[in-house]
Amino acid sequence: MASSRARFGRALRLGMIGGGPGSWIGRMHQGAATLDGFWNVAAGVFSSDAKRSKAAGPELGIDASRSYANVEEMIAVERTRPDGIDAVAIMTPNDTHYPYAAAALDGGLDVIADKPVSHDFAQACDLVARTRARGRLFAVTHGYAAYPMTRYARHLVQAGELGALRFLQVEYIQSGLAVRVEDGPQNDRFRWLLDPRRSGLALVMSAIGCHAQHLACFVAGRDVARVCSDVGAVVPGRRVIDHVSALVEFAGGVHGTFTAMQAAAGGENDIRLRVCGERGMLEWSHRDCSYLRIAMQGEPARIAGRGDPFLPPEIVSGGRAPRGHPEGLLHAFANIYGELAQHRMAISLGDPVPDFPYPKIEAGAHSMAFIEACLTSQASGGWVAVAPNPNRASAGAG
Ligand SMILES: NC(=O)c1ccc[n+]([C@@H]2O[C@H](COP(=O)([O-])OP(=O)(O)OC[C@H]3O[C@@H](n4cnc5c(N)ncnc54)[C@H](O)[C@@H]3O)[C@@H](O)[C@H]2O)c1
Repeated sequence: MASSRARFGRALRLGMIGGGPGSWIGRMHQGAATLDGFWNVAAGVFSSDAKRSKAAGPELGIDASRSYANVEEMIAVERTRPDGIDAVAIMTPNDTHYPYAAAALDGGLDVIADKPVSHDFAQACDLVARTRARGRLFAVTHGYAAYPMTRYARHLVQAGELGALRFLQVEYIQSGLAVRVEDGPQNDRFRWLLDPRRSGLALVMSAIGCHAQHLACFVAGRDVARVCSDVGAVVPGRRVIDHVSALVEFAGGVHGTFTAMQAAAGGENDIRLRVCGERGMLEWSHRDCSYLRIAMQGEPARIAGRGDPFLPPEIVSGGRAPRGHPEGLLHAFANIYGELAQHRMAISLGDPVPDFPYPKIEAGAHSMAFIEACLTSQASGGWVAVAPNPNRASAGAG
């Protein structure tokens, strides 16, 4: 049978929110959405300033007539068009994610949102409820969990290759806050990042920590049950949080450690995961994102690579080029976009819906609960339970 994309007969239409010229993540979303032919970026709002937003669209190849002054206008006008948008992609400063996502869901649109999905856990639970009540789909762009080799790690864990899980280590190290950027020249980006009311409860967690927590939960196939954390700013006088280290216990009593740090001078974008089971261990590093090191007790260690013919077909299909040809975050993002599109197309066509692994709003909500638990643990000085999502379908799903 022809693919759902072929039978659906058209690309889905996306409205971008954010991602104006000069933004960091905007081109990643735009390129990923269109990479595999599942989406056409048809409309957008690219700035909080109406004039700048309308001027930015044509710069990005979006029709001037569909480059809107604000999100309310885009949702209202697109609704009236026979070729109106099917979904929005949200890549604005963090404090706007929740209101824009809620408005899009209420307007009958699917949502692809960047992290963090909201300011706090209560808002994230509201997004879970709205997504379900409106029958919509909601993806969160945790790209690290959309690489073929992190998905292969999850596959090996699920298949029981490691035996019972014993321990996970995840760390995400960056240097973006290694110097006092607070004292340097400010641009729009620094202004929202360095304002905790806009960037969130803990900057390092909104920026990178939630990716690390999500990756560990995704590969382990379980949520974090409780946490004992050290949260703060290592750079003197800083108002935002630049590091979090924690002991974590995943559901089922699996132990682990977690580190997120943005003030690591000399660091790059360094996210790593180690998964230890009773029979062996897996190691993945973003530096070598197309490879997974598999070391079984008493056997020579081996390196599986994206595109290897022995990989399961659903893992192989997450890559586009043969082993040895670099792919990166753009392609991982494109996997998320492609899967949400195929999910929507399958529903529309009445096809059976596979269990697509893209990160969903329930996972976004769990990250918010984890962040809140880290802060509570720092305040209380001990272990704190992570609030479970209401009606969580299955632990660690997506
Ligand atoms: N998934 C990832 O790997 C990843 C990486 C980087 C950033 N992000 C997330 O992406 C988001 C944006 O980060 P960034 O670094 O690109 O920020 P940025 O400041 O570089 O860009 C923000 C963009 O949003 C636009 N904007 C601001 N307010 C708006 C509004 N009200 N309506 C419409 N557009 C508006 C700005 O004009 C700008 O184009 C953040 O939530 C961040 O956490 C995710």
